Amino acid sequence: MLHPEPPAGWVNDPNGLCRFQGLYHVFLQHCPDDATGHGEKCWGHFTTQDWLRWFWHGTPLTPDHPADQSGVYSGSALAHGGLLHLFYTGNVRTTGDGITAGREANVMHVTSPNGFAFSKKQVVLTNAAYPADCSLHVRDPLVRRVGNRFVMLLGARTKKNCGCVLLYHSKNLCDWTYAGRIDTALPFGYMWECPDWITVGARQFLSICPQGLSHGETRFQNPHQAGYLPLSAPTPQTIDPTALREWDMGFDFYAPQTFAAPDGRRILLGWMGVPDAPWRNPTAALGRQHCLTFPRELSADASGRLRQLPVRELSRLRLQGNALCDGVRKRFSPPFELEVNCSDRFRITLCRALTLSCDRADGLCELRFLRDTLGGGRTVRKAAIPRVTRLRVLVDAASAEFFLNDGETVFSTRFYPSEYPISVDLSGCGGVLFPLRPLEVTYLA
Ligand code: FRU
Repeated sequence: MLHPEPPAGWVNDPNGLCRFQGLYHVFLQHCPDDATGHGEKCWGHFTTQDWLRWFWHGTPLTPDHPADQSGVYSGSALAHGGLLHLFYTGNVRTTGDGITAGREANVMHVTSPNGFAFSKKQVVLTNAAYPADCSLHVRDPLVRRVGNRFVMLLGARTKKNCGCVLLYHSKNLCDWTYAGRIDTALPFGYMWECPDWITVGARQFLSICPQGLSHGETRFQNPHQAGYLPLSAPTPQTIDPTALREWDMGFDFYAPQTFAAPDGRRILLGWMGVPDAPWRNPTAALGRQHCLTFPRELSADASGRLRQLPVRELSRLRLQGNALCDGVRKRFSPPFELEVNCSDRFRITLCRALTLSCDRADGLCELRFLRDTLGGGRTVRKAAIPRVTRLRVLVDAASAEFFLNDGETVFSTRFYPSEYPISVDLSGCGGVLFPLRPLEVTYLA
């Protein structure tokens, strides 16, 4: 298994990603007793030192405060002054549509001296602090240190149904003042969730999850989107959303968050799911649903495009490689990784049902379910890519992540084989398949 899951229940966004006192902390949105996502959201907690051995610590943040009584929603982490500072949205629902009435969206602040014991919760922003033209959909605080102050980005929806990012400044992480917003001249979706401001090498980017974009043939095919664009500083400004590139072209990706590792890498994890998706995940009947992506390290190419590849630690799980030949079907137990020698027109098929095909003549790559039994209603996702020269595929028991051209384009999807091992067919290409040792996951709670 390459995608650690809590012992039971529901998972959505990664939260509070950081490296603190020698450990990576991966918090996540989690309903322990409910696999449908309708239960009360908590923060679940994993740690790992090396991305290979993981520890589960239960749910350190639960809705036990009047200001978060309907859910401990998404947020971020920042190490400062010897403490880990966590910021999240305390959701409170009362009667009303939840957009213009009947919701508190509080920004909560919690500290920890060691990443495991947490202080009392402080409310640092309430509805009263948000601009008058905003709806009650304001959430997902992301705090970064910029120069000599702290900046908080909050995803928001205005009363006129325009997505934007609200900016708040602080010197001490406790007192925050409104500093303006990042928006667009014309509406670009009705809500932006889970903002992130990302430094990769010498470049900076804004990541947002816009809701309500119109769908295209090769763009914005999911119910909701996740993308990034260049943004040199998180200052008030009107941005050009046509620069937005999607993080992932597959069926299952949303709410990514990144953080800086001490070795200089920028690491991203996303939710391998998407809100309001009509497709089915049969694990729900077994009391659990969803996981996060395998951690990805980011690099920026000369044109400012981000590349995502599995963190390099993955190579330590590799066992002896098997050559795969064009036209010969072989079966392997997951997890495994595939490196493909691409040609102008090729196709890779898993379980005779999930196929990625790339054709240079029409400049298209397609991820398609040939049979619905494995896809739970997922059909086809397309991306315009002039030429695919490199491809890596990470296959786990119920997911596949395809990294094209060194991760310039990624397709992530869940799929649910009815039997194992998984058959692999290559057509128009050859490759090497590396069986992988599974991650070690220890449940301490
Ligand atoms: C994104 C999101 C966030 C929110 C959280 C609640 O998937 O809707 O905006 O904080 O999930 O679980």
